[in-house]
Amino acid sequence: MSFKLSADGVKYVQNELTRYESKQSAIIRALYRGQDENGGWVSPDVVAELSRVMDIPASQIEEVSTFYTMFNKQPVGKYHIQVCCTLTCGMLGGRELTDAMMKEAGCKTYGDVSPDGLFTFNKVECLGSCDTAPMLQINRDPYIESLNTEKGLQLVRDLRAKGGRQ
Ligand code: FES
Repeated sequence: MSFKLSADGVKYVQNELTRYESKQSAIIRALYRGQDENGGWVSPDVVAELSRVMDIPASQIEEVSTFYTMFNKQPVGKYHIQVCCTLTCGMLGGRELTDAMMKEAGCKTYGDVSPDGLFTFNKVECLGSCDTAPMLQINRDPYIESLNTEKGLQLVRDLRAKGGRQ
């Protein structure tokens, strides 16, 4: 197994296990931690490590990770840009905005990691912020709302400048 939770990660997961009557209730929190420590995605190694630390069968952890879209099944860029493409965002230019941002970032299709490793775009269903459409979310940060193509392109440029410095 190549993925190991950090010492803090193990402590975090063990603490989560004490918070619920059933160990299974801690799986989502543990998956978030595993995903964060594994560069943004849940690999089979992450599932195996959580299974070991939580003493829960890997199949149960796998089941949860594949059910919820917030857990990535393949590597993503440093900035995982989740674009709402549901009705309101779609009607207000969400798709054109996404196409322009993906082109600027160098991503050919949804799920791709850009050549510089910084960007991945994915479509998501309504994020509940239709009154500020079109909008998106980057990683688990607060929403970025009321976008247009100009703002979207600037966002990619700003993230590239920021990402390149770190
Ligand atoms: Fe995009 Fe609801 S349709 S947030």
